[in-house]
This record gives sequence, structure tokens and C-alpha cells, in this order.
Amino acid sequence: MASTIHRASTTAPVNIAVIKYWGKRDPKLNLPTNSSLSVTLSQADLRTHTTASCSSSYPSSDSLILNGSSQDVSGARTQACFRELRALRKAIEDGDDSLPKLSTFPLKVVSENNFPTAAGLASSAAGFAALVRAIANLYELPSSPTELSRIARQGSGSACRSLFGGYVGWEQGSASDGSDSVAFQVAPAAHWPNMRALILVASAAKKDVSSTSGMQTTVATSSLFASRAAETVPRRMNEMQKAIQEKDFEAFGKVTMMDSNSFHATCLDTYPPIFYLNDTSRAAIKVVETINTAAGKIIAAYTFDAGPNAVIYYLEENEAKVAGLFKAALGEKDGWVGKRGDAIEANGEAL
Ligand code: PMV
Repeated sequence: MASTIHRASTTAPVNIAVIKYWGKRDPKLNLPTNSSLSVTLSQADLRTHTTASCSSSYPSSDSLILNGSSQDVSGARTQACFRELRALRKAIEDGDDSLPKLSTFPLKVVSENNFPTAAGLASSAAGFAALVRAIANLYELPSSPTELSRIARQGSGSACRSLFGGYVGWEQGSASDGSDSVAFQVAPAAHWPNMRALILVASAAKKDVSSTSGMQTTVATSSLFASRAAETVPRRMNEMQKAIQEKDFEAFGKVTMMDSNSFHATCLDTYPPIFYLNDTSRAAIKVVETINTAAGKIIAAYTFDAGPNAVIYYLEENEAKVAGLFKAALGEKDGWVGKRGDAIEANGEAL
């Protein structure tokens, strides 16, 4: 008789930080040097779809296929996620003899992104969040999003924030085992539903310096880094949470832009320097400044991750002024693909 294939699928959204995670105090457990905060984007535009399956009939090793090509699963990050999820499943199996011993079967994970991978669009965030949730579903784990965020963090730090919808923080925590370094929801998407994100793809090429190696060199060599982690980010975490609670776009936008600038300043201050922004990125910053000057207040805010692509946040009522001007200024330029997120929404669940 053919062995059963057990299977579960899920999708996870991209999140784009408005207070950036940059620096690891423990590279093995992916424990950060500062807390961070992000907005979860609509899954209609940017998401990873993942199917996890397992069977006693599968070849003996675990496998992962991303966008049709086979990936190495031997890395410590992926192994940590598999190990933690298997341990949780095993604890359930140990208490109930009637359950199939899924924790002993090889795993097969198949993922598809609908956006450029590794182009500074937080693909690893959606990727590891989807991987962890798909396997948790396959194993029928009763885990909360908080617990799954602790596991996903070990795959890719920013992935922990993609387990929640809306406005999401990641508490750096202080425990050496990382048990308190988890994501939390600052506010559901419905709290401030008219937030919009415009994604400008300046380059879909893979980034030159991976975030892991970039962070390590920044921590080791940048003199700006220490004050960012110790003083600037803790203060801005408070300002940002207040701006979100009060739906104050001017405060939200100002802190978003200043934090992006601060993060890229520490990259430039790294030796050898890291340049994630390019001329197209700087043109996008100028367009945002022009929009805000014309409006007489902040109605658009840019932010850049570890790559040249701009994410512009704005409120729906300013759609024509913000997205319209970007289209007029940059629409004909080669290499620009405008993409507007739908309403930022909860993560497919009432979170
Ligand atoms: O999760 P990682 O290791 O890919 O690092 C992400 C770092 C940034 O995207 C630049 C910032 C962030 O908080 O998402």
C-alpha cells in the first residue's frame, strides 16, 4: 500500500520595517541589537505561498524548492526551524499513540514568491514566516503566532514580524536563549486601514551584500552604530508606537524617513562601506521631498531596506498627490515598476 502524503499550505505576507532591524547580538539565534517595527503589506501583491508535506515514502533527506529551484537546507537557519517544529510535534506524538509519527518523516517544502527574491524586498521574511506556518499547520501544532514568531526569527530575523498583520513590533528581548525576542502586534490593520504602500522596484537584481554579512561588518566597524542601537532606536520605537496609536501620519512619516536615513548612514559608516541606495533611490527621496514641500506637510514617507528599492507609505486620501506624482516623474523611466499595495490587511486572519 502506498504511504500517505501529509500536506498543508499557507501564504505569508511581506513586511516592510519603519524602524529597521540592523545588528545581531547573537548571530546563531538571530537575536537583534535593537527592537524594530514594521507594517505588514497586502498579500494580494507581495507574498510567499508555501506547501509543506511529509511522508515515510519520501527520500531520506528534507528538501526545499523556491521558485522552482532546489535550495540548500543544511544551513543552520533552516535547520533550526525544522528542529524546533519537529520537537513541538514530537511532544504531541509522545502524548498520543494514535497519531502518525510525522516528526520522523522527511519534509518537502515548496515555496513560490510573487516578487523578486533577495532584491531588498524582505523576501526572506515572507519566506521563513510561510515555511514555519506551513509546517506548523502540517503538524497541527496549537502554537500561537507569538510562538511561531520565535521560531521564524531563527530562520530570518525580520520573518518574525510577518506572523502578524497590521502594525507589528519585534521586541529585542534580553534572555540569552531568545525566548523573549518575539513579535507583537502594535495595532491591527483595521485600526489605521487607509495606509498605503507604493513599491518602486529600482533593481530586481540580487543584493551585493547580504543582510547577515552587512550587519556583522556594521556592528564591528561603524562608530555611529552604538548610539543608534542604544539611544536612537529605543526613542523612535516609542515615538512610532505613539504615532500609530494616534494615527498621526506626519509623525509616522518623519520617524520612518529618519530611521531609514539612520540605518543607511550606519551602512555608509561601515568599513568597507555598504551602499544599498543608488541614483534611482536618491531620485525617489527627492520626489518625496517635492511632494511634501508642495503639500506643506508630510504626506509621503520613503524607506529602504538592504537594497535600492523604495517603499513609499502614504494615506489613501493622498493617492493622487503621491502615486500620481511618482507616475508623472518616473513612469517612463527604465527599470521602474510601480506597485501599490491594497489596503494593508490582517494576515488572512482576524489578528
Ligand atoms: O531578516 P533579515 O536578516 O533579512 O534582515 C532584514 C533587515 C532589514 O530588512 C534591512 C530591516 C528590517 O527590519 O526588516
